[in-house]
Amino acid sequence: MKIVFCCTHAVAEPWLEGFRQALPGVDIWEWQAAEPGQAPKLADHAVVWAPAQAFIDEQTQLQNLFCIGAGVDGLLKLQLPDKLSVVRLNDAGMSVQMAEYVCHAVIAYFREFGAYAQDAAAKRWSFKKPLVRADFAVGILGAGVLGSRVASALKHFEFPVNVWSRTPKQMDGVQSFAGQEQLPHFLKATRVLVNLLPLTAETENILNRANLSQLQPGSYLINVARGHHLVEQDLLDLLQEGHMAGATLDVFRKEPLPQDHAFWLHPQITLTPHASARTLREESVAQIASKIKAVYAGQPIEGRVGRERGY
Ligand code: NAP
Ligand code: GLV
Repeated sequence: MKIVFCCTHAVAEPWLEGFRQALPGVDIWEWQAAEPGQAPKLADHAVVWAPAQAFIDEQTQLQNLFCIGAGVDGLLKLQLPDKLSVVRLNDAGMSVQMAEYVCHAVIAYFREFGAYAQDAAAKRWSFKKPLVRADFAVGILGAGVLGSRVASALKHFEFPVNVWSRTPKQMDGVQSFAGQEQLPHFLKATRVLVNLLPLTAETENILNRANLSQLQPGSYLINVARGHHLVEQDLLDLLQEGHMAGATLDVFRKEPLPQDHAFWLHPQITLTPHASARTLREESVAQIASKIKAVYAGQPIEGRVGRERGY
């Protein structure tokens, strides 16, 4: 079994060592473009994050591309042979991180921790009237691996929780909305909008003025999916107009966020550098190795991407 590793920004050696331990006898190496005139060493499977098109073009024997992330929008922009199967990470330790991140942000808004921090900085002892939990419905765009975990975590704090997905869901204590026709009802019921959709042709720019202005007045946005879901100027305008009260953003159209970007110092925006749910090496190696074993045993695996639907 031959595996090539091609992950931008990852230090290869600990990953390679992890796979050698999980898959004894595997031949695994870090990809480097073959020198002109030299025959490339070809692998059966690849472990990838943001590979170049040159990698795909060179590795002509690949059966599976195992992505070390949940989102595969970057991979699907490449020209991939039809026979090549793309496999995403399913959770692998990300959903608990995402639940922590989103619960932290929702609770910070609900308990007005930002305003209390300002009071403390001014040595001001002043209580705020508690907000009403029933008025603080959280709407989650996407009810997949991450969205459903976030929904069930928020239920522990007794927030009303709604989800929106392509297909209807059955989740205890969570109201499910599905499809384009139910999107307006979902948005109207939402005070805090959490985005956990994959980036596809259908979802790009979904966080736009037309949709965000249907949220309840004084609403908040938590975008933890992809920067290209959000029309950035529309958010800035809605904050300025007072329809929206704040945003927590982990992902941006351009990453790293440019130094002169308006989001950096905006008083109503909290931002993090695409850090809400990081890929964890040990969990990811274990998951991909067990999927590879399943492939060789002729068993089905979770996380095969539907190339035509984009996730
Ligand atoms: P997933 O399991 O594939 O779930 C995707 C959800 O989105 C599903 O519920 C799906 O509906 C729904 N959906 C897709 N297209 C839709 C459409 N056109 N209309 C309505 N609903 C639609 O993905 P996941 O593992 O939860 O991850 C979600 C995204 O999070 C990833 O794609 C990635 O972009 C992002 N992410 C970000 C970070 C970070 O650090 N910021 C980390 C990991 C992942 P169905 O259930 O009906 O199919
Ligand atoms: C990170 O953004 C991922 O898609 O895993």
